[in-house]
Amino acid sequence: MIGRPRRSLASCASTNDEAASWAREGAPEGAMVVADAQTKGRGRLGRVWHSPPRENLYLSIVLRPAVDTAKVPPLTLAVGVALAETVASLGVDCELKWPNDVLVDGKKVAGILCEMSGASGKISHVIVGIGVNLNTEQFPEALTLIATSLRRAKHGELVDRDAFVDTLSLRLDEWYARFIAKGPTPIVDAWLTHANLTGRDLVIRNGTEELRGRAEGLDQDGTLLLRTRDGTLHRVVAGEIANAT
Ligand code: BTN
Repeated sequence: MIGRPRRSLASCASTNDEAASWAREGAPEGAMVVADAQTKGRGRLGRVWHSPPRENLYLSIVLRPAVDTAKVPPLTLAVGVALAETVASLGVDCELKWPNDVLVDGKKVAGILCEMSGASGKISHVIVGIGVNLNTEQFPEALTLIATSLRRAKHGELVDRDAFVDTLSLRLDEWYARFIAKGPTPIVDAWLTHANLTGRDLVIRNGTEELRGRAEGLDQDGTLLLRTRDGTLHRVVAGEIANAT
C-alpha cells in the first residue's frame, strides 16, 4: 500500500507540500512523492532541511488513518522504527532520538516531519515527510558537527536510493498496519528498543523554557516522561532534547 501510486519529481519546494496538495485532490492512502531535490525542504520547528540534488532521499506519504487527531503522535514513532529497521538492514547501527530523529554515531542521518490536516478532531490526511542523508559526503559548515550520512557510515560505499525506498516502504506497511490494528503499545515498545532514552539525564528546551531531569521512557501516546529533581513527573509533548552536562 505504501508507495502506490508514486510520483517522482526532479525538484520541488517540499515533497510535503506536493503530497498535501495531491491529498486535497483525492490521492489514495499510501500515495508517495519522491523528489531528487527540494528548494524549500523543511524540518521541525521551522528549520531548513538540507536537500541537495540527487544525493539523498526526500519523500512524503499520504495517510488517512481513521483515528482521532489526538491518537496520531505515535505515528511518528512508528515511522522512526521503520527507518531504524531499514538503516539496520544496510548493516549500519543507528539510534532513535525522541521525537523524530535517527542518529548514526551520535549525528543525525534522518528526520521525520508529520503534518496533519483535519477539523473537529477528525483527520482528512496526515503527510509523513521523511528525509534521509543517504550519500552526502560534505555537509555545509553549520551541519558538519550534527549531521552524517549512511555513505559515511559505510566508509564511502554508495547507498542505492530505490532499494532503500523499497525496504522502507515494506517496513512502513507493516508498522502502519500494526498502528491501525493494535494502537500505540507495540510501537512505543519497539521504539524504546531502538533508543537509549530511559534513565538518561536530559535537558529539554522549548523556546526559552528549559527542563532538566531523568527520562523515564515514553507514555502510550508517545509523550516523553521526565522526572525532575523535586520528584515531579513531567509529560513532555514537544522540545529539543540534549544530554544534561
Ligand atoms: C526534522 O528532522 O526536523 C524533520 C525533517 C524532515 C525532512 C523531510 S525531507 C522530505 C519532506 N519534505 C520536507 O520539506 N520535509 C520532509
